[in-house]
Amino acid sequence: MALLLLGAVLLLSSATAATAQDCANATFQAGRSFRRCNALPVLGASLHWTYHPANGTADVAFRAPQGSGGWVAWGINTGPGTGMAGSSVFIASHSQNGTGGGGAVSVLTTVLESTSPSLRNGSLKFDVPAPPAAEYTGGAYTIYATVALPGNSTLQNTVWQAGPVSGGSISMHPTSGPNLRSTMRQDFLSG
Ligand SMILES: *[C@@H]1O[C@H](CO)[C@@H](O)[C@H](O)[C@H]1NC(C)=O
Ligand SMILES: *[C@@H]1O[C@H](CO)[C@@H](O)[C@H](O)[C@H]1NC(C)=O
Ligand SMILES: *[C@@H]1O[C@H](CO)[C@@H](O)[C@H](O)[C@H]1NC(C)=O
Ligand SMILES: *[C@@H]1O[C@H](CO)[C@@H](O)[C@H](O)[C@H]1NC(C)=O
Ligand SMILES: *[C@@H]1O[C@H](CO)[C@@H](O)[C@H](O)[C@H]1NC(C)=O
Repeated sequence: MALLLLGAVLLLSSATAATAQDCANATFQAGRSFRRCNALPVLGASLHWTYHPANGTADVAFRAPQGSGGWVAWGINTGPGTGMAGSSVFIASHSQNGTGGGGAVSVLTTVLESTSPSLRNGSLKFDVPAPPAAEYTGGAYTIYATVALPGNSTLQNTVWQAGPVSGGSISMHPTSGPNLRSTMRQDFLSG
C-alpha cells in the first residue's frame, strides 16, 4: 500500500516536472525555435513564439496533448468578444483517410462565426504571411503559424481548444470545466 502510494507520488511529481520543463525546453521539428513561451493555464497546452517588432508579426507554435484521433486549435479573437465566437483559428487534425483516419496532419483556418461554426477552410481576419503547418509527436499536436498581429498590437485575446473527430469531422469539444476556460489575454512582448 505504502509502496503503491509512493509510486503514485513519484509519477505525479515527474508529470509536474515535465509540464514546467515542457515550455522552456520544448523542441520542435525542422530546426524551428522560439524566443518565448507560456504554459497555458488549461488543457496542458503551451504557446511558443517569436515576435518581430519591425513588421508586427509573430511566429507561433501552439502545442497541446491530444489523442491522434482528435483535434486541437489555437487562435485570436479580433473582437468585439473574447471567447470562441468571432475568433480566427488554426485547427490541426489528422486527415480522415478511409477508415480510422491516420492520414497526414493538416491545418484548417477558419473564422468561427458562432458557437456552431461552419468550419469552412478560408482566410482569417488577420494576415497569415506563411502557410501554417502542424505535426503530431509524443501524443501532442503542434501548430506552426505566422500571424500579423491584429492592429499591430502585442496584446491579443487568444483562445485554444481540443476535441474529438467523429465520422471524419471536427466535432464539438467538451463543454465543461477546462474547455470553457481556454481563453487568455496574451502579451506577445513580455509573455
Ligand atoms: C532546460 O534548459 C535550460 C537552458 O535552456 C537548462 O539549463 C536546463 O538544464 C534544462 N532542463 C532540463 C530538465 O533539461
Ligand atoms: C518579419 O520580420 C522578420 C524578422 O525581421 C522576418 O524574418 C520575417 O520574414 C518578416 N515577415 C514578413 C511577413 O515580412
Ligand atoms: C508595428 O509597431 C511597431 C512598434 O510597436 C512599429 O515599429 C512597426 O512599424 C509597426 N508595424 C506595422 C506593420 O505597422
Ligand atoms: C490518403 O492517404 C494517401 C496515402 O497516405 C494519401 O496519398 C492521400 O493524399 C490521402 N488523402 C487525403 C484526403 O488525405
Ligand atoms: C485548407 O486550405 C489550405 C490552402 O488551400 C490547405 O493547404 C489545407 O490543407 C486545407 N486544410 C484542410 C483541413 O483541408
